Amino acid sequence: MSITDLLNNAPDTEPERQYYFIREAAKIIEKKEQELGRKLTCCVTTFGCQMNARDSEKLLGILKQIGYEETDSENADFVVYNTCTVRENANNKVYGRLGILHGYKKKNKDMMIALCGCMMQEPTVVEHLQESYKFVDLIFGTHNLYKFAELFTTSLLNKKGMIIDIWKDTDKIVENLPIQRKYPFKSGVNISFGCNNFCTYCIVPYVRGRERSRKPEDIVNEIKGLVADGVVEVMLLGQNVNSYGVGLEEKVTFAELLKMVNDIEGLKRIRFMTPHPKDLSDELIEAMATLPKVCKHMHLPLQSGSTNILKKMNRRYTKESYLELVDKLKKRIPDVAITTDIIVGFPGETEEDFLDTMDVVDKVHYDSAFTFIYSKRTGTPAATMPDQVPDDVVKDRFDRLLALVQKHGHEKVKGYEGTVQEILVEEINEQDSSLVTGKMSNNITVHFPGDASLIGNIVKVKLNCCKGFYYIGELAE
Ligand code: 5AD
Ligand code: SF4
Repeated sequence: MSITDLLNNAPDTEPERQYYFIREAAKIIEKKEQELGRKLTCCVTTFGCQMNARDSEKLLGILKQIGYEETDSENADFVVYNTCTVRENANNKVYGRLGILHGYKKKNKDMMIALCGCMMQEPTVVEHLQESYKFVDLIFGTHNLYKFAELFTTSLLNKKGMIIDIWKDTDKIVENLPIQRKYPFKSGVNISFGCNNFCTYCIVPYVRGRERSRKPEDIVNEIKGLVADGVVEVMLLGQNVNSYGVGLEEKVTFAELLKMVNDIEGLKRIRFMTPHPKDLSDELIEAMATLPKVCKHMHLPLQSGSTNILKKMNRRYTKESYLELVDKLKKRIPDVAITTDIIVGFPGETEEDFLDTMDVVDKVHYDSAFTFIYSKRTGTPAATMPDQVPDDVVKDRFDRLLALVQKHGHEKVKGYEGTVQEILVEEINEQDSSLVTGKMSNNITVHFPGDASLIGNIVKVKLNCCKGFYYIGELAE
């Protein structure tokens, strides 16, 4: 079939249109398999955050329905890189690995390469790829990921070089497309897409577009389906989960959504990522304190402890208001685990500003922290701010911060030694098959003797021996 015929026959409504393309692509792939006398393989590689991981499951779901077999090797017939651009080194990694893919492609004339995700929303990246990476077959962005089956089929029939389809933004959310989950018993669930906050260092609002929320009934129905399929833990995903509800006809707060999800029978644990401190309501703290399935873990990105830098970052809270929030949280939920993200070396950061960050870290005593060196993202307001901090100063501050967060992390983890905790068993231990590996409600990893029958169950485990950031334990029941 020609591309024109294919497009002319396609339904206009979604998701029917994508299911039509899946069927058409499956026919082509089946023929190809017969020609080659073997199954075709695909590999989806994810860079970056949990949002991307979830998007990759959607891509894989479609590829499997089309007839591809999944492989871990990138020497496959169809390779997708789902990219990240939050820091410069994420981009560099992709360029480096594309060179290796080119080598595979020279040896397999049927190989196709697709690139998608946040990095593709940057026009300079796409220009560079067009010029120097002509062997790439398909490029699409974050806003039209739901159209993957359509883009893939067009690309399959296309004989004339790269297909590029990037949208600047969308308010469209397409439900009910196939998904291939990585874990049988836990799953990410998108509750909103995009971000309206425009922190001055961050490229996400430019590449993921304006914030839009999924309807609560769609979220609840998806989770009910997941539970019926064996899922016991969900991670609700949004760039700023506490502003959930934006744009919905009937306003629902994030805390109200949590209540609805908590009521789903068979579901055992609810996590969420990421709340913004400026919108963290008392209602949400109350929901975490009272809803039994909600894990007592709050990831609360600090970014900087200096009110001066926070202002320049457009974070809309101060050192004092952040600390008050943490106090309130700890008072209401004494056993809450608090984790964070911190950026070192934002433009204009003085030693005094940095010491404010160290001070907040000391006061909060985080369970763990992701620490990042500031990365200049072209197009963001911070990229052109004066007083970019020299590399050696940043490196020194980064090392001091890391030492402090690691010290606190060890102390926090060590504090559980000898206690009995509920562990969700996730997998057989990679190094020692007589052990299983699971997670506490606050995300600490625990290894203990057990077998595959425990996977997906929550069991009581005695934490015998602290090994730094994880535990060796034994079943307590
Ligand atoms: N440089 C360094 N870190 C960044 N982050 C976001 N943008 C940048 C940047 N330009 C960090 C923030 C955010 C996390 C996901 O990535 O800490 O919370
Ligand atoms: Fe980026 Fe700030 Fe939005 Fe988070 S809240 S995605 S840091 S702009």
